[in-house]
Amino acid sequence: MDGNGRWAKKRGMPRQMGHRAGAETFRTIATYCADIGIKYFTVYAFSTENWKRPQDEVDALMNLFRKYLREAADTMSQRGVAVRVIGDLSGLPDDLKAQIAENDTIADQLGPDAAVANLCINYGARDEIKNAVQAICREIQVGKLRVEDITEGCIAKHLYTAHMPDPDLIIRPSGEMRTSNFLLWQSAYSEYYFTDVLWPDFTTADMDAALDDFNHRQRRYGGI
Ligand code: FPP
Repeated sequence: MDGNGRWAKKRGMPRQMGHRAGAETFRTIATYCADIGIKYFTVYAFSTENWKRPQDEVDALMNLFRKYLREAADTMSQRGVAVRVIGDLSGLPDDLKAQIAENDTIADQLGPDAAVANLCINYGARDEIKNAVQAICREIQVGKLRVEDITEGCIAKHLYTAHMPDPDLIIRPSGEMRTSNFLLWQSAYSEYYFTDVLWPDFTTADMDAALDDFNHRQRRYGGI
């Protein structure tokens, strides 16, 4: 969800206002995706590196997560959207962890057919892979797993995304052309779509344009 800071700067507003506008866009696009039948919608909301930002910006972001997760527990779940969080939750404030647990309970109640909106918070793909390697090694240490059992599937099962398919399409807004430590393992065969639109300005029409572009791609997965 890139470009919030630039969106605010263009308007002479503090960066936090850009994040607030970006959070509204998240709600709009997440519900739109659910409405048009996209089962999984995942946004990168806060990276393991974002703690380096000024404390007031970090605090503002944590407050937005509190507000939108609380709201998601009511309104979005009524619309059949399960909101879950992906990342290293151990590093988050206790009240936020409790809110995430409440959202998980609601998501479980909504059942397996509900659309899922994932918020990546305190997420870094390298950190995720490191955690998976550690978990696998611990299982080997206690004899639960053998080295020969480490398949690609086994690694995937130890990632935060264990219960969902790899992303088909990854959209990066705001003109940046990097992956920035986002779903590195899972994106091996994802299609990328780059747009100059700043995230707070991203509309359902922009989503349609990305999907239309995606629908014209030929995916060969290494074949011909
Ligand atoms: C990157 O843009 C954006 C972030 C680090 C934060 C994204 C978080 C939100 C939109 C709030 C989300 C809250 C919910 C509940 C979904 P940037 O700030 O680095 O933008 P810039 O590159 O223009 O400075």
